[in-house]
Amino acid sequence: MTLEKFRNLIGGQWVGSAEWTANCNPADPGDVIGDFASADVTQLAAAFDAARNAQPSWAAASPQFRFDVLDRAGEIILSRKAELGDLLAREEGKSLPEAIAEAGRAGMIFKFFAGEALRLNGEILPSVRPGVKVEITREPVGVVGAITPWNFPIAIPAWKVAPALSYGNAVVLKPAEVAPACAWKLAEILVEAGAPDGVVNLVMGKGSVLGATLCELADAVTFTGSTEVGRRVLTATAAVGTKAQLEMGGKNPMIVLDDADLDVAVNCALQSAFFSTGQRCTASSRLIVTETIADRFAEALAQASDALIVGDPRDPRTQIGPVASREQFDSVRDYISGAVQEGAVMVAGGGKHNVPNEGYFIRPTLFDHTAASMTINREEIFGPVASIIRVSDYEEALACANDTEFGLTSGICTTSLAKAEHFKRNAQAGMTMVNLPTAGVDYHVPFGGSKASSHGPREQGSYAREFFTQVKTCYQTC
Ligand code: UN1
Repeated sequence: MTLEKFRNLIGGQWVGSAEWTANCNPADPGDVIGDFASADVTQLAAAFDAARNAQPSWAAASPQFRFDVLDRAGEIILSRKAELGDLLAREEGKSLPEAIAEAGRAGMIFKFFAGEALRLNGEILPSVRPGVKVEITREPVGVVGAITPWNFPIAIPAWKVAPALSYGNAVVLKPAEVAPACAWKLAEILVEAGAPDGVVNLVMGKGSVLGATLCELADAVTFTGSTEVGRRVLTATAAVGTKAQLEMGGKNPMIVLDDADLDVAVNCALQSAFFSTGQRCTASSRLIVTETIADRFAEALAQASDALIVGDPRDPRTQIGPVASREQFDSVRDYISGAVQEGAVMVAGGGKHNVPNEGYFIRPTLFDHTAASMTINREEIFGPVASIIRVSDYEEALACANDTEFGLTSGICTTSLAKAEHFKRNAQAGMTMVNLPTAGVDYHVPFGGSKASSHGPREQGSYAREFFTQVKTCYQTC
């Protein structure tokens, strides 16, 4: 059987490349979705040329024109979210309800940023000099290079491409090699929605081949991925003085205090540690629990974890799908065996889940009696693994929560208003959740972290304009 070929989109043309990569279903690696073009730097440069040619007239067009293209793209995504969700589940492995919800989120993001094209305001101020006025406006940055990860294969491309386009930029999108199909569909949808040739370009392939050149050629680079690769993007963009927005790793804590509602706490931990197979930079992997509630919490969470249905993500009964790739599978299993060697007590899950087709399934795994210094509590695992760290009181919990190089999300389960308020002010994280999971965020408000988790202005909501525009100050006699 010949595989369908998915080409790059460069200047409005679908172009193949010398190399191709098979995109496999992580629940059944023998099921290949298609052959995806793997570009070289010449193709990447051609995409940047096309974007550079197309950008001025896109920026000069009426905001109504940009609104219409983005709004239509949002409509198409929403009307096809079941089909896109199925593709997403097949290439990435998250469960069908999660995958369909992600496609829906991508659609809503396009609709939100359609409106942003109309809302781009400026300011007029009197000058300190008589007879002069000052005008502050925002302009597009030019051509945005977007590097996106595999764990949200449609939502993250959407929340980078939609604001870039809304504010008048052209885009070169480089999706993750592990899951490029949803980004490919998104590019196709944008063409259908009327994006002019060259305004959106899709260049698939290896980060190791394309990353450095992308950082050199773009006017601004927006990246989501690991801290290690993010740091490389930062170095490469700094070398040429290019603006960078980086969303990187997390090692997010969730504190559970003695006064917490146990059901709420267990549900928050379950959701944020294990859903999306734990493959979210917003996942809670450190559950910091005070002593009096710890036994009850550990027991209830272990039971709830064991009850989760792990299986084919496209089976509607499945709650937890496989991890996304062989590489992830090996890495997560190494963390699990490392934790056992370091003395963590496994109370749920562990090891490979027994399912057909050699898929990359790992049961949600919970460790209890872990020390904050253990590797599983220091490094981002990016899989369905969480650990309980027992502490004596809120003060110790807060110190433990903040004792990490990362600072993306941070959660607390408590019925004390005073503790919740204190935590919101003192958690070292860009996003803080009270009695809610640390993962699963709204699409219309800022997203981002502190410390090693993020760099540069926030993504999403109106705050996205900070990165995707530059400010111009004009003086004029009046
Ligand atoms: C979410 O938790 O809803 O890569 C989104 C990630 C994040 C997105 C998380 N950038 O996991």
